[in-house]
Amino acid sequence: MRRFLLIAHRVPPTGEFTLNDLAGGGGRMDEVARAVSTAFTLSNDLRRDTEMTIVFSAAPPPVARKVELVGARLRYLNPDERSTAALLKNALVRAVDFPREFESSPGLRVASVDPAAELRAFLERPGALWLCESGGPLADSVRGGADHAFVLSDPYEPTEAERSLLEGSGVPRCSVGPRSLRTSQVIDLVHHAVDVAEATGRPAG
Ligand SMILES: C[S@@+](CC[C@H](N)C(=O)[O-])C[C@H]1O[C@@H](n2cnc3c(N)ncnc32)[C@H](O)[C@@H]1O
Repeated sequence: MRRFLLIAHRVPPTGEFTLNDLAGGGGRMDEVARAVSTAFTLSNDLRRDTEMTIVFSAAPPPVARKVELVGARLRYLNPDERSTAALLKNALVRAVDFPREFESSPGLRVASVDPAAELRAFLERPGALWLCESGGPLADSVRGGADHAFVLSDPYEPTEAERSLLEGSGVPRCSVGPRSLRTSQVIDLVHHAVDVAEATGRPAG
């Protein structure tokens, strides 16, 4: 299983943004939607072995939300970023009037969250890795047939509190290369590294 935890720092957790301004008023929802699309879509198929939790941390609990996407159950995910953003916005907007966790569409659950607790719990998962520019080579840390759990950030740096949780967890830092890449690009390279490890039993060169 491949799991991702993506911290979305500025997307309004109540879903109060327009699909016509995903990068501005949407707090970079364009990149979050792109990351979801990259995490799950293949050419004419979906990655059923992938799960993603997006923590929308722009407001403190109880307004902070998480959306969990489960590849094995996911439906209505199209490759374009606007319709993906609409799927996520729909989940966030409906959660405003719904205090408990619920499934807003197949394979997509939404709930209130304590962002720090969620991050802490994710870092305890088997195979947890922190994706950041200054880490060791990712290929050294991925293996075929193993569970992996990757933490990464949206276009904004982790906050000081998040950084201190990440550093204190002892989870290895991994890098996909020397350049600072977009979140969605990092996910592509991570999938590639795991795909190669699974297909060949060897790290991606
Ligand atoms: C757009 S980057 C964050 C901002 C970026 N550090 C900057 O200089 O503006 C988004 C996230 O992708 C991940 N990332 C970017 N480049 C990476 C790399 N070379 N290796 C591993 N992760 C990377 C990190 O989790 C990072 O927080």
